[in-house]
Order: sequence, then C-alpha cells, then structure tokens
Amino acid sequence: MTDNHTPHSAENTHLLYEFAYREPATIKELLALKDEYGKDAEIQAGGTHLMTMLKMNRAHPEMLVNINQIPELKGITHNEDGELLIAANTSIHEIEYHTDIQKDYPALSEACAAFGSKQIEIMGTVGGNLCNGSPASDTPPALLVYDARVVLLSSQGTREMPLSDFLVNPRKTKLKENEIMTAVILPIPQNNCASAYIKITRVAADLAKASIAVRIQREGDKIISCEIAMGAVAPKAIRLARAEAFLAGKTFSDEVLMQAAEIVSEDISPIDDIRSTTWYRREVSKAMTVDALHLAWERCGKVAVIRPNKIVNWFSNMARTPVNLDVDDERDIFLKVNGKQRRIRVKAHELLLNVLRDRLNLTGAKYGCGLGECGACTVLMDDVAVLSCLTLAVHADGRSIKTVEGLEEKPGKFDPVQEAYMESKAFQCGYCTPGFLMTTKSLLNELPKPSEDEIREYLKGNRCRCTGYASIVRAVVNSVEKQ
Ligand SMILES: Cc1cc2nc3c(=O)[nH]c(=O)nc-3n(C[C@H](O)[C@H](O)[C@H](O)COP(=O)(O)OP(=O)(O)OC[C@H]3O[C@@H](n4cnc5c(N)ncnc54)[C@H](O)[C@@H]3O)c2cc1C
Ligand code: FES
Ligand code: FES
Repeated sequence: MTDNHTPHSAENTHLLYEFAYREPATIKELLALKDEYGKDAEIQAGGTHLMTMLKMNRAHPEMLVNINQIPELKGITHNEDGELLIAANTSIHEIEYHTDIQKDYPALSEACAAFGSKQIEIMGTVGGNLCNGSPASDTPPALLVYDARVVLLSSQGTREMPLSDFLVNPRKTKLKENEIMTAVILPIPQNNCASAYIKITRVAADLAKASIAVRIQREGDKIISCEIAMGAVAPKAIRLARAEAFLAGKTFSDEVLMQAAEIVSEDISPIDDIRSTTWYRREVSKAMTVDALHLAWERCGKVAVIRPNKIVNWFSNMARTPVNLDVDDERDIFLKVNGKQRRIRVKAHELLLNVLRDRLNLTGAKYGCGLGECGACTVLMDDVAVLSCLTLAVHADGRSIKTVEGLEEKPGKFDPVQEAYMESKAFQCGYCTPGFLMTTKSLLNELPKPSEDEIREYLKGNRCRCTGYASIVRAVVNSVEKQ
C-alpha cells in the first residue's frame, strides 16, 4: 500500500480543522465527557450538519464525541404509558419507514421523506435535526402538531419539555452545555385524527422555503380540533394558535379554510434569504394551509397506506473497539475496501473520501461539492450509501467499504448496474456516474423492485451537471430487469 497523501489547501476537499475524537460506549461515559468539556465536546450523531459546519469554519469544538456506539440512543419503542419514544440517535430513514409512524404519525413520516437527499436521510438523525436549531428543519413542524416532548439528560438528571419550548431561535435551543438529547416522545394519537406535511423547495434536494404540518380531528363535516405548524417562516418552527382556534368547531368548507389561511399568513414572520422572499413565503403559506388541511381532512377515517422498506443502518452497533484519539494522535484503522483488507494510519479529522482517493488511489469516488449536496462522493459502507465527504475515516474502522472500482467482478466483467448504465447511455461527462452507480446499488439492496417514483426519490441527492436524469432513471429501470 502506498501513502502519497499530500495536504491540500482548498477548503472543502479536506477537513482542515483538527480535533480530538471519542466514541463513548455508554451514556455514563458520554455524560462524563460532557461534564468535563461542556460545549467544547460537540456531539456527533450522523454528522451531516456538524461536518459541514466544521468545513465552513462555523464550529470549533475541541473534541467530537460520536454517539453511535451507544445502543440506548437508537431505535423506536413505546414507553410505559403507550406513547411513542424515538431515541434521539435514530436515523431519519428509520423514522420515515417505521410502521407505527406511517400509520399513526404520517406527517412525521412525510417530513422525513421530504429530506433533500437519501444519503442524508440514512446518516442524519432526529436528535441532530432538532439540536441544530434550524428554523427550516423538516421534523420540527411535524413533531409540533403531535405535541411532541423532548427528553434531555445530564449527570444532574433528566428533564422533559415540550418541543415548542426547546426550540428558541436560529441555532439556539434550550440544550445546556453538559446535556444531551436522549429521546423524542409522541403522545398516543387521538381517534378520528389525520395529519399531513407539505414542503416547498427550490429543487427537490434542498431545505424548505416553507413547510407546513397539520393535524385535524374530524366528526362528520365538523372540525373538532386542529393543529397547524410551519417551518422556515419564523425564527423557529411555530404553531399557529390563532388559526387553530379559529378552525375548532367549524364546519369544513373552502371558505373557512381560506379564512384560516389568511390568519396563518398574518401570523408568520418570514424573512428574505437565499431560498425565498418574505412576500413569497406569506403568499405560499396560504395555499399550503389550504392544501395541507384538505389532505389531512380526506385522510380522516381512512387506513394509512404503509410503504414497506428494509431499514438500513449506516453505523451499525457492531462490536468493535471504540476509537479514542487526542488531537495529535494517529491510529491504524482496519477496513475492507472492495473486498481487500486494509490498514491505514489516520488522524481523527481525516475524511473517508480523502483516504480512498489520496491514500488508496481509488479515485472513483469523486469530490464535487464537499458539503453533502451533490452525491458524487457516494460509496457503500456495509452496503449502505454514505457520503464519503462527510464521513470520518475513523468511522470506517472495522467496516466494509465498496467504491465504484469494486463493482467490476473481474476486469471486463461489469456489474449488471454498470451494464445497464452503459446500455442506457446514462452518462455524458461521467463525473457524477460513480456516485449514481453506488446510490443505485444501495437502492436495489433496500428495494429490489423500485417503481420509477421510488427511483427518482432515492436518487434525489445525486446531481448530474450534464442533466442526463431521464437516461439515468431508464438505466436503473434496466438494472432492475437485469437483477
Ligand atoms: C446536503 C444536505 C441536505 C440537507 N437536507 C436537509 C433537509 O432536507 N431537511 C432537514 O431538515 N435537514 C437537512 N439537512 C440538515 C441535516 O442533515 C439534518 O438536520 C440532520 O437531521 C442532522 O442530523 P445529524 O445526526 O447528521 O446531526 P449532526 O450533524 O450529528 O448534529 C447536529 C447538531 O446537533 C447536535 N446533536 C446531535 N445529536 C444530539 C444529541 N442527541 N444530543 C445533543 N446534541 C446533539 C450536534 O452536536 C450538532 O451540533 C441537510 C444537510 C445537508 C448537508
Ligand atoms: S462531494 Fe460529497 S456530496 Fe458532493
Ligand atoms: S454525466 Fe456529466 S455530471 Fe453527470
């Protein structure tokens, strides 16, 4: 193995900021680190937000504390009162497809499905989505209409609060320096209720210009009660209490909905930013209110259609020696790359993409944006698509990585997916193709017979600057036939 790694100066190709790194195996160890280092020890869950902040020089923690080795922080269960308990480090992908969530909390499942990229859904978590404090995050409006509560833990004990209190301002929450979020609790759903989530974006793979969640309780043609929440139209995700009170007890009609929509538009406080304008957000909020209320109304009393899927986990709770590194430390990581066992010496801040490209000369995984937005760097980690530009090399310790170079079974014997891409002429310059191929492999691993809509949905985080999307979708359809 050669080591021809040379440091780059360009900001996003490599992560230049250095930090110590810890992988506590228990909550006790995690809280001890938070007590010792406070905000200097930044939690890393999926890392999709945090890694971009580090790359953009907007976060400067002394230490990253990765919480993926703590099993209690993952998964969806019920508490003793029958309420749904989502552990904070549960992935957006798992929440989207969980049967109870699709059935009883469909707005939350839809909010997760509305994320800008499948790879981000797989890596990102609900805890990260709430703790990053973004007013444009997708899960808060959905959680707000269900009156969700968050559970916060420190060595001093546990506290619980409504999510509406937890969210404060852009990038500001009630989380204390030595606290972590352990779970989100959703009260038992009421009878004759239905809910819906709608997100408006510039392109599919983006944060919201505006988003809305509603829940309606219906009896005949009467609205018994109603909850409405919006994202990206105020400094934090908000409930629209005046519109909710206006609708309660009214007979459902277009006129009533239009009046409620006017109230919503008056009560939000949107701003102009890179995604939209104040004027547009106020106008679109009216149409979104009417559409979301209609959608939820029509769902009342109907059985939810469950979309089956295989839940995949990019950072499985496999037994392995936790990685703990101080800022100047280096350590050997052991990983399988394209079937071959490798040993590589890394520092905590090195990225998987750079290790593959610069150390192992596997240049198939491409550098595109470096910020999770283009999918060109997608590789498979234990058969699941991950963005190697946002993945630390230490995360690959003990794991199996597959890059586009590993798809060919032997020289000249291509994988059926590669053959289908070639036959469908699904590339022009080819720069995005390795990322598309690896995402397609991940899709077929999860859903062996995807529909065209499911293909488009799964590939939404992969960008092709030559815009050959129609032929790429055709190639995936052909891949399915070749499996
Ligand atoms: C390309 C791209 C597209 C995106 N698209 C969307 C989108 O469509 N919709 C959307 O809502 N978001 C989107 N995001 C933002 C981000 O991916 C999500 O907010 C995601 O859910 C964050 O989860 P994470 O586990 O990756 O968080 P991390 O990056 O690991 O953490 C985010 C913050 O929360 C803190 N934190 C995480 N977990 C805990 C915990 N349990 N206790 C205390 N603190 C914690 C971390 O310390 C950090 O400050 C996107 C990001 C990128 C890069
Ligand atoms: S380079 Fe990783 S998503 Fe663009
Ligand atoms: S084929 Fe050129 S970027 Fe996709």
